[in-house]
Amino acid sequence: MIAVRCDNAEQPNSRWYAGCGIYRPVRLVVSDPLHVAYNGVYVRTTNVSDERATVVLSVETEGSAPGEDIQYEIRLADARGRTVARTSALGTPVFETRLELKAPRRWDVGDPYLYTAHVKVSAAGRQDSYAVRFGVRTTDWDADRGFFLNGRPLKLRGVCLHHDMGCLGTAVHRRALERELQILQDMGVNAIRTSHNPPAQELLDLCDELGLLVMDEAMDMWRKPKTRYDYSRFFDEWHVRDMQDFVRRDRNHPSVVMWSIGNEIIEQSDSPFDEPEANVELTRHMAQLIRDLDSTRAITAGCNGVWPGNNLLRSGALDVYGFNYHPQLYDSCRVWFPGKPLIGSETVSSLNSRGMYFQPSTDKKKLPSRGWQYTAEGEVDWNHQVTAYDACCAPWANYHEEAWIAVRDRDFIAGTFIWTGFDYLGEPTPYGWPSRSSYFGVVDLAGFPKDAYWMYQSEWTDKTVLHLFPHWNWTPGEPVDVWAYYNNADEVELFVNGASQGRRAKTHTLLHAEWLGVPFEPGRIEVVSYRGGREVAREARYTAGAPVTLRLTPDRTTIAADGYDLSYVTVEALDADGRVVPDATDLLRFSVAGAGELAGVDNGNAADTLSLQGDEKALFSGKALAVVRSLRGQPGTATLSVSAPYATVKTNIVTK
Ligand code: GAL
Repeated sequence: MIAVRCDNAEQPNSRWYAGCGIYRPVRLVVSDPLHVAYNGVYVRTTNVSDERATVVLSVETEGSAPGEDIQYEIRLADARGRTVARTSALGTPVFETRLELKAPRRWDVGDPYLYTAHVKVSAAGRQDSYAVRFGVRTTDWDADRGFFLNGRPLKLRGVCLHHDMGCLGTAVHRRALERELQILQDMGVNAIRTSHNPPAQELLDLCDELGLLVMDEAMDMWRKPKTRYDYSRFFDEWHVRDMQDFVRRDRNHPSVVMWSIGNEIIEQSDSPFDEPEANVELTRHMAQLIRDLDSTRAITAGCNGVWPGNNLLRSGALDVYGFNYHPQLYDSCRVWFPGKPLIGSETVSSLNSRGMYFQPSTDKKKLPSRGWQYTAEGEVDWNHQVTAYDACCAPWANYHEEAWIAVRDRDFIAGTFIWTGFDYLGEPTPYGWPSRSSYFGVVDLAGFPKDAYWMYQSEWTDKTVLHLFPHWNWTPGEPVDVWAYYNNADEVELFVNGASQGRRAKTHTLLHAEWLGVPFEPGRIEVVSYRGGREVAREARYTAGAPVTLRLTPDRTTIAADGYDLSYVTVEALDADGRVVPDATDLLRFSVAGAGELAGVDNGNAADTLSLQGDEKALFSGKALAVVRSLRGQPGTATLSVSAPYATVKTNIVTK
């Protein structure tokens, strides 16, 4: 009998909602006494060229008799399972071999090609086998030109992600993570920072498969605490083992291109009680724990103490210097830390509520204005919301456009990691209860993009973007600021009920077109983008009437009947003309009949107090979400019903 006790009673133990209970898969591995050690295979590649790559493979075997020879059989297979190299040899429990791979197909962001190493160990009739996936790719860092993948300069267009999956909580769910990553990739994201802890294995598997780069981060604190009951209490006893487990588990993933030894570690500066140089030594020790197990990746840290005296930076132990915020100091950093590659390990921290547009957009706010330990209560009368215009951020932080411009304009800044890609549970800056989740996400907790999403998409992708906002449901005569994010065009023209409001264009420092104080009249606004005078794209918004029905849009209409797979269904209110009602707030009731169950509900409202696991949720800025899960071994049809005061609408999801 094995009993696992999980005690999460002592709170607070984290600065955000870290989950409760066992939220990663637990496996009982039954093997022969002679077996490959847990995470005991390490694959890396050297001498990579178009013609060949050398695959260096190490195996640790446990359970052999003293002095006994172990037979190793190694086979490398391509993505279709065809053998591309093999070798066999007798060896000791710690074994290393090299295989030549001809014409390797590189793992890259646009072509995440994976090989598999199959390892078989045997001795005296006992045997064990083990398989790990790996990729062939090179990474390089340059103090002037940033990051290189396979010899090509590549700006890291990243986001930080906490590990929760919105209304599903923190128990890892592959499809929930996959959807999250797909939404982000569609925005142009090519990198993820696993703030501020080792991610679920599933996240790295997905990043390997989708072609996303990862900054794999170990911790949010060392010996000095940030909250009363956090990991600092266990640091002395556990950090060596935890760091080793972290590196041994993650070092075969081609997606992982850098390790972070910590985020905003308090030991960056000394307290009066610290032994001289103790924190510098601790930094070296933390980095060395990684280097001993993997020297093929750069080591960094997310530093918010941006000054030459920072213990982590002056330790000499970091390969890449990571800066959280402080873009105004990027140029000084270049002088302070000559020859060091630099990266924006954490940037932005804008605050936005999806679909909330507070006029005028030029009224920019840093909230709470009294500092991080306060709330913005009493400062603004916004009903626990923040504007969706790029006009609100935390006092230590930056608006989306200014943060991206600072990185875009500097080749020596290897990239950016926006705080955050998705909203997360906890840290509801700038408000207190009833706010219970963050406002930082470019995408809300339900997975619906906020407007800044299209700013990034217009800057980070080649897809033609033309995104018009706000909605067009206002009071007649009210002045409304109209913005458009766009690309692949020189200018954009706005029409209000067919009347041109003029053409506008982006500039080097303004990444959207804007028409300020447009008097609202009901009807239609439309933007048209032009290149060389020819129309490229157009987009319209209409004044909607009262909602009369709902529209349900599943992201997938067929899912696996494995009791695990999910369909995410978007709910919107429509008026009598079939137009989306952007400010609908009706309370909805959800139920699932047949071969499925309701896994969660959400609407992206950070101040909503109805349960994310209940069967009721109001529309927020016209949208809500229902997550439907299949039932294990019960193929069939799951029928989701959603009722508003004016209609009940159903949709079917096939499970097979
Ligand atoms: C950073 C910190 C993050 C988050 C963020 C909010 O300083 O690293 O974990 O708290 O601030 O702006």
